[in-house]
Amino acid sequence: MEIITSIKQLQHKSISWIRQGKSIGFVPTMGYLHEGHEALMKKARQENDIVILSIFVNPLQFGENEDLDSYPRDEEHDRKVAEENEVDVIFFPSVDSMYPKRLSLELSVVRRADVLCGKSRPGHFDGVVTVLAKLFNIIHPTRVYFGMKDAQQIAVVDALIEDFNYPIDLVAVPTVREEDGLAKSSRNVNLFDQERVGAPSIHQALQYGRQLVENGEKSKSELIKKVRQFLENKSHGNIDYIELLAYPKLELIEFIDQQVILAVAVYYQKARLIDNVVFNEK
Ligand code: PAJ
Repeated sequence: MEIITSIKQLQHKSISWIRQGKSIGFVPTMGYLHEGHEALMKKARQENDIVILSIFVNPLQFGENEDLDSYPRDEEHDRKVAEENEVDVIFFPSVDSMYPKRLSLELSVVRRADVLCGKSRPGHFDGVVTVLAKLFNIIHPTRVYFGMKDAQQIAVVDALIEDFNYPIDLVAVPTVREEDGLAKSSRNVNLFDQERVGAPSIHQALQYGRQLVENGEKSKSELIKKVRQFLENKSHGNIDYIELLAYPKLELIEFIDQQVILAVAVYYQKARLIDNVVFNEK
């Protein structure tokens, strides 16, 4: 496994792999790798000749009062996990090399970002697509791997690929969970003990919501009211949002008669956790 920090060096390598007819699977991450990230690496390993993992905590996607400074990092551990998963290259650029000066050009997401996390975190998805556009141009991936835990991110990347004609296949990987149902996240280490006890109720609330629909609930407002009650009693955090939208378009709906996403975000003292479930699959 090779660790590359230079943009130019990786770009040359990727282009020569593509010229040799090799497929490149790309897994973008911000590091502090866990089993969720590993599921993406494993899938990429199965499907491609070359696997490239990027580790870059992208300042552009963090708001002013967000957790950029406390975002957990562990280079040594990440290197080990990547090696175990037979990654060929870790791309580890510095902030200065990715953003040597203020960008003259930034991408702005105008659809699919005015709801859920895009609404709570203004500018977040602009930062995500800007860094991904750069990474796609450096790596030239054949396939990119994203986790369903960040379902809105997948919807936005899907739009990036389609709108800007990247010749890339987007692969969505199911959410990996702890045994008690809590979605694995690099941010889980920032939960206090009592918060960690309440956090699995996020997943339970989503399952409860899905069950209500399976039992015949058709009204979005009724569903959200019940899921909110469930979560308020159990989560030990402050609910940011509970929302039900058409998926993948993320459009507002009143009645549940199509494929939908039920998504939740909860603020804890030092972490904000998100989770979702997609159902009524068509
Ligand atoms: P990060 O939060 O490190 O996540 C990297 C990838 O891992 C994302 O596609 C995310 O959905 C996936 N992932 C995280 N937890 C998961 C879980 N429990 N199960 C399955 N997949 C999971 O998402 C980002 O980084 C950044 O926004 C990035 C795309 C790298 C751009 O900066």
